[in-house]
Amino acid sequence: MEKKKFGTLHDGTEVFLYSFTNQNKMTMTVTDLGATLVQLLVPDLEGKPRDVVLGYDTPQEYLLGDCYFGAVIGRNGNRIDKGRFTIDGKVYQLPINDNENNLHSGPNGIQTRKWDVADVDENARRITFHLVSPDNDNGFPGNFDMEMSYTLTDEDAIVLRYRGFSDKDTIANMTNHSYFNLAGHDAGTIEGHLLKLTAESYTPVRDEQAIPTGEIAPVAGTPMDFTSAKKIGRDIDADFEQLKFAGGYDHNFMLPGEEDELQKFAEVYCPESGICMGVVTDLPAVQFYTGNFITDQKGKGGAIYHKRQGLCLETQYAPNAINEPAFYSPLLKAGERYETETRYRFYTRNLDEDF
Ligand code: GAL
Repeated sequence: MEKKKFGTLHDGTEVFLYSFTNQNKMTMTVTDLGATLVQLLVPDLEGKPRDVVLGYDTPQEYLLGDCYFGAVIGRNGNRIDKGRFTIDGKVYQLPINDNENNLHSGPNGIQTRKWDVADVDENARRITFHLVSPDNDNGFPGNFDMEMSYTLTDEDAIVLRYRGFSDKDTIANMTNHSYFNLAGHDAGTIEGHLLKLTAESYTPVRDEQAIPTGEIAPVAGTPMDFTSAKKIGRDIDADFEQLKFAGGYDHNFMLPGEEDELQKFAEVYCPESGICMGVVTDLPAVQFYTGNFITDQKGKGGAIYHKRQGLCLETQYAPNAINEPAFYSPLLKAGERYETETRYRFYTRNLDEDF
């Protein structure tokens, strides 16, 4: 592992970058600021490394940005209707930071905090971060003790493991918010990427505020259907109300597998670089987001990022699940362990191979 200073925050706190490289020359760089994935160098079809995640050059930009590039989100990812929920008969009110709702747990979330390095395993190429979100942090009940690790495997996967433990019943629904562009973070829109998603249903939203109606709707016969590989840009601007609400894809898809069992649910392919990404999780759902709200801004190495320059596959419990009995529940009981895993694996293929 290589450790480098990333920068100094306003209060004098130093933050660091940690890099691992495997035998195939894939490199993963993360920072203790927000346990954020900063860089992922993946060899393309010609063996040339491409950095396939969007991000910034300085810690300050990560703190100021509103896209959550590469960040770990918690303790609740995605939206909660009016920021309100009830646990054990008690009503909790979270801060409102997205229209009338709570998004990604509220302002100054865990993506803005410095995490401790709990462990480094050089042989496994694994780093484990640790952070405690105190009782009443952004209004959530319970001291929530989190561990999150990144592992770079010899099979060119990054494995993200999350663990949590609370002393009161709370919500546990963590994710990673990386924006992938398999042509390179500076290579323009992802609309030319192909996506295959096993989800046969999704959760339509009420309106532009993106709170699910509670319905679980089939993707068949709609632009939401990615069960056969399809160019992301093919239907993205279709005259379909759900896509109009979000200016593209920004929806929760229900995954078909068994709860808590690892399943491969997505494959993304970039014909230009030949890079593919397969995604595996044990979580019940995923937010597929096409970066519709990326406003023009400076990213890593002077690149200028635009709308739809990256795509996110945020594994999760469905948005607002704490208020929706029809969705799998993100409730974590006091004393029980929250434990989940998501993997992103990279490989290449030729344009003429079937996808
Ligand atoms: C996503 C969310 C989008 C947008 C984005 C942050 O998780 O689904 O609607 O808020 O985060 O810009």
